[in-house]
This record gives sequence, C-alpha cells and structure tokens, in this order.
Amino acid sequence: MSQASAYRAAIVHSLGDPTQLGLEASYQYFPDGVLVVEDGHISDLGPAEEVLARWPANLEVVQYQHKLITAGFIDTHIHYPQTEMIASYGEQLLDWLNNYTFPEEAKFADPEHAQRVASFFLDELLANGTTTALVFGSVHKASIDAFFRESERRNTRMIAGKVMMDRHAPDNLLDTAGTSYEDSKALIERWHNQGRQLYAVTPRFAPTSTPEQLAMAGRLLAEYPDVYLQTHLSENRQEIEWVKSLFPQRSGYLDVYDHFGLLGKRSVFAHAIHLEQSEWQRLGSTDSVLSSCPTSNLFLGSGLFDLNEAELQQVRVGLGTDVGAGTSFSMLKTIAEAYKVQQLQQHKLHPLKALYLATLGGAQALSLEGKIGNLAIGKEADFVVLDLHGTPLIQKRIENAHNLFEQLFVLMILGDDRVVAETYVYGARQHQRSS
Ligand code: GUN
Ligand code: ZN
Repeated sequence: MSQASAYRAAIVHSLGDPTQLGLEASYQYFPDGVLVVEDGHISDLGPAEEVLARWPANLEVVQYQHKLITAGFIDTHIHYPQTEMIASYGEQLLDWLNNYTFPEEAKFADPEHAQRVASFFLDELLANGTTTALVFGSVHKASIDAFFRESERRNTRMIAGKVMMDRHAPDNLLDTAGTSYEDSKALIERWHNQGRQLYAVTPRFAPTSTPEQLAMAGRLLAEYPDVYLQTHLSENRQEIEWVKSLFPQRSGYLDVYDHFGLLGKRSVFAHAIHLEQSEWQRLGSTDSVLSSCPTSNLFLGSGLFDLNEAELQQVRVGLGTDVGAGTSFSMLKTIAEAYKVQQLQQHKLHPLKALYLATLGGAQALSLEGKIGNLAIGKEADFVVLDLHGTPLIQKRIENAHNLFEQLFVLMILGDDRVVAETYVYGARQHQRSS
C-alpha cells in the first residue's frame, strides 16, 4: 500500500442529476474539506476536522487557499486530429469538413505527426481540467496507437477509436469495409481495457460509410459487447437531407444506425439537434446516449440542442467540446455556451446541473459512474483544483459572491484554463498551472 496523500480546500462534487434528485440532494459541499487519496483511489472525504481525526497525525496534507476541488471534467465528444485546425473560418458542416477537416486529418498518415499532436492534445485537456474524454482519431490505425500510448503515459482514462470512412472523402482518407473491420479489431484487442484505455468503434457519420461498412461496425459491437460506439447524428439540415438521399429505404437518420445494430447503452451520438419525435423515443428505448456540443453548434451555425426534450425522454446526455468545430478545450467555456443555448430556448441551466453534466453525468453517459465522475470513496482519484482567484476579474467577482452557487456560476461563465490550478489523474498531479 502506498502512502496516503490529503488535500485540504473547499470541496464540491455531484451526487446525481438535480433534475431527478432535486438541487439539495444532488451535491455535497465542504467549505473546509479534506480529500484523501491512496493507490490512485479516493479513500476518504469530508469536513477537515472529521477526516483529519480519522487519520494519523503525520498524514501529509496539501493546504490550498482560495481553491475549490471537484471531480475531473469529462468531455464526451472531441476529435484529437482537429487540434491544430480549431477556429477555421466561415463554413457550415459539410464545407467545413471538405475545406478544412479532411486536409488536416490527412496529415495523420505520418505516425510521428500523430504522436506529437496526441501529446499536445492530452496536455491541453489536462490543462483544462478534463481527465476523461471520448475521442475520435483519424482514419489511420496508427493515429489511435499514438493516442493510447500518450494516454497510457499520463495514466488518463480515455475512450478512443479509429475513424471508419469508406466513401465521400478524399481517396487518401478512405479505408474499406474490410480494412476498417480488421484495423478496429486489432486496436480493440491491443487497447480495450489495457490499463485505463477503452475502445470506441467509430464510423464517422452515415454519409461517409457504405452500408457494408456500417454492417462491419455492427459486427464489431456484436463481437465485443463492452466496447463503445461513437458517431455523429442530425447535426445540420443539409447533412440530414443527404443521409435520407443515400439511405432512401430507411425511415430517417437514426434508423440508418439502428438498422445496422449501432444503438445501445454504450453508443454515443454527437449533436442530435434536429430530431424527429420517433427518433427521441427510439434513443430512449434503446438507452442510447447523446453528446451535446454547444460551442460547436454555435460555431458551425448548426442549431440548439434541446436538453429539456432529452430529459423528458430520459435520454442520457453528456457535454462535449467537439474540438475542432468546437471553439474551446475548456468544459467551463462549454458550460457557459450550454447556458446561453438554454437561455435562447427560455430555459435555465443551474450551476449544479452544469457541474453534474460535466462530471458525474458525463460518467453516467459513458457507463463509467462506478469508476469516475465524483469524489465518492473508492472511485479513481481524478480531480481538479480550481482557482477562485484565477484572474483579477474572477477574483473580484468571487469576492462579491454570496454562496457556492454564485461561485460556481462565476467560474462557469468567466472561467477557462486560467482557473484550473492543478489536475490530478489517478492520484498523481499531471498538470500545474504556471503563474
Ligand atoms: N460530422 C462528421 N464528421 C464531423 C466532424 O469531424 N465534426 C463535426 N462537428 N461533425 C461531423
Ligand atoms: Zn464531432
């Protein structure tokens, strides 16, 4: 047994969905709290006086001032090969893919490029307090080997997959139904449950896969029932019309995926902005998951995600940055845009609901709530130390905040990587902000 480490600060974490539990039961807050970590797991949590009384007097305690500890953030949709093309001007989805995205992803034919970008990408996630993400690679098998190698070095819990794409993209980015199956299978065998790494079967979206390739994706899920599926769904109206013209025998966009056996509790569909009622119901009845990506949806002019309908239909939802269509790696900035998207639909996003979505809700969306998502005893020790004085303006506004909710809301509306003082992964510090 390794030595215990303890961290003393204000501590808040989510206990469940405020929509289901009510606000009061949905969180725990210790204004002066201690978190104890041993062997990569959380072994104690509570008010400082009580926790310290339970441990030997020589327990090493890191003391923080003006800090708030919470669980590491969980990003349920992001593309690592798009890191260096974030903020590409002027287009909506389909032209954006053709003009910017595909040329950028072609660079990942070079494994050294892939390794360099994967390393930068993971450091950027950690600098933003994100400790788990569901990640698209490029079509190249080596892009995912590079990604998992870099994730393994940091011991981060990541889910990722090689893009499957065998039509409607430049020739140098196409695989085939057969090679995509073989490559994905080899990657599953090599990486799924290797340490903290997990695999996601990753058909890019219906237009870039032939029926034969979607059938192969379904075959992989049937052969490996505990791997994930990630793809895109109903992001843009032109895209939806295109899918309907490519698959006229299917009743709609979601039905294409359904037909090939791609729905289910480990299937995560990004965007889902323009859904039919029957599609909402089918997502609910199959326990499929949505990833809502507000910075991307605003940037590409795609539309507004209907969080209320998801709640009505009891569809699990996580938040995603969707970099490089998304405009920030920060889950705090993502929350700020989610708040505004709710405002545009006459709804509120309470800071405790936002905290839930970015942590425990993300873990539930990824069926990982037994391992990560909050600071419950026994969970893997992924947590962030947020700086309540991260910028002069944030400090001023925090000094004028009257309670936890106001503090959280200030961090969410004004915060980004500047308020992430430290990020811990499996009990080890993997990021410290330089002052
Ligand atoms: N649909 C298909 N591919 C992509 C992608 O890379 N980004 C986004 N936002 N939507 C997509
Ligand atoms: Zn995406």
